[in-house]
Amino acid sequence: MAKYTVVTMPGDGIGNQVLPEALRLLKATGFDAEYVHADIGWECWRNEGNALPDRTVELLAKHKLGLFGAITSKPKKEADAELKQELRGKGYSYFSPIVTMRQKFNLDTCVRPCISIPGNPLNFIRKKPDGGFEEPLVNVVVFRQNTEGLYAGVEWTNPPEQVRAALGTHPKFKPFAATPGADMAISVRIITRKAARKICKAGFEWAKKYGYESVTICEKPNVLRETSGMMEDEAKAVAKEYPGIALWSTNIDAQTMWLTKNPEDYGVVVASNLLGDVISDAFAGLIGGLGFAASGNIGDEVAVFEPTHGSAPKYAELDPPIVNPIAMFLSVVMMLEHVGEIEKARRIRDAIAAVVKEGKVRTYDMMRLSGSAKALTQGAASTTRMADAVLAKMEKKSAQIASD
Ligand code: NAI
Ligand code: MG
Repeated sequence: MAKYTVVTMPGDGIGNQVLPEALRLLKATGFDAEYVHADIGWECWRNEGNALPDRTVELLAKHKLGLFGAITSKPKKEADAELKQELRGKGYSYFSPIVTMRQKFNLDTCVRPCISIPGNPLNFIRKKPDGGFEEPLVNVVVFRQNTEGLYAGVEWTNPPEQVRAALGTHPKFKPFAATPGADMAISVRIITRKAARKICKAGFEWAKKYGYESVTICEKPNVLRETSGMMEDEAKAVAKEYPGIALWSTNIDAQTMWLTKNPEDYGVVVASNLLGDVISDAFAGLIGGLGFAASGNIGDEVAVFEPTHGSAPKYAELDPPIVNPIAMFLSVVMMLEHVGEIEKARRIRDAIAAVVKEGKVRTYDMMRLSGSAKALTQGAASTTRMADAVLAKMEKKSAQIASD
């Protein structure tokens, strides 16, 4: 029996293109695993009225380790319109399966490393005051609280009377009191002390383990006094346990400005759910964008690793596929590190770095081409060619080690 079983959920669109390529790399490391496919995403919604079928939940509950590609999500009206005829009007409503999965398994810690790979032509550069350019190395890991905040899902258009009545007890609700229910939408931002403390702790632990000098809590406590205030209070409390690591506090708006002024100053960045989603995409833009942004959704028992990007439907039909699989590869690296297979993780990571540094094989995004089949005739590598290049570097390294 294999040591690990990995539940593979390619999902929709380009998830089906990048995940199989990542499995080729994983298998080449000799990772002792079996792989079980699980369904997730839009087709499950259309045909079953549930984008995260129970059979997939059961597989994850059993095997505890998952690799996920991407899913397609659509707004409520479109989702209802695409549901299979027989299922309509039976009370099914669409929920994003990845958000549901995070909540169901309490995958409360989302880790999103944004670390520039030297040689990537998409790396952030900055003009120097005396002319010329410099390329500061970005080495940021965003810790996003993954289950609460504005994504908790407690929301209404036309809120029930009890909700209105409860809100009416707050003096700041007064200006809204006369607005008809149908014209009012409410999303509740819920932060619990326990989860706030846990995400801060996870950020500090990472900083300690990997030698980061600072943890930045990125919120908006001057305005969101209760929720962001609680995040900040907990960060301060946790910081006391880590005397060697500085705690900085930034506001999300200012942080989005500073991150292009001095991104090299930041190390670990901690934020609540929506703000963490935003700031991690913003930092990812400095290291090559969605083609390079990997993530882990980590709970106490279950962990699922995925590229940050979505299903990119525009590219899903292209044959051969052209999207950049590196974000998925780096997600696999994170999974290996998570289970303690450090050497195997390093083999893939080093091979990716070697391919990027060499610069001979680049997907269309790395060449700043527009994403179409034409990109391949303009010198861009296909998804498979990128995987081949990384595999070749892995094999070369093994051959080198064997002959040393
Ligand atoms: P997206 O991430 O799918 O694509 C946005 C753009 O980023 C693409 O058009 C492409 O230019 C670029 N891109 C994304 N992945 C790339 C890759 N691997 N290589 C090169 N370029 C890449 O986001 P979009 O278009 O907003 O959403 C498409 C669908 O994906 C929607 O249905 C959305 O709900 C869903 N989505 C799912 C996520 C998930 O599965 N976790 C996350 C984000 C969006
Ligand atoms: Mg996002």
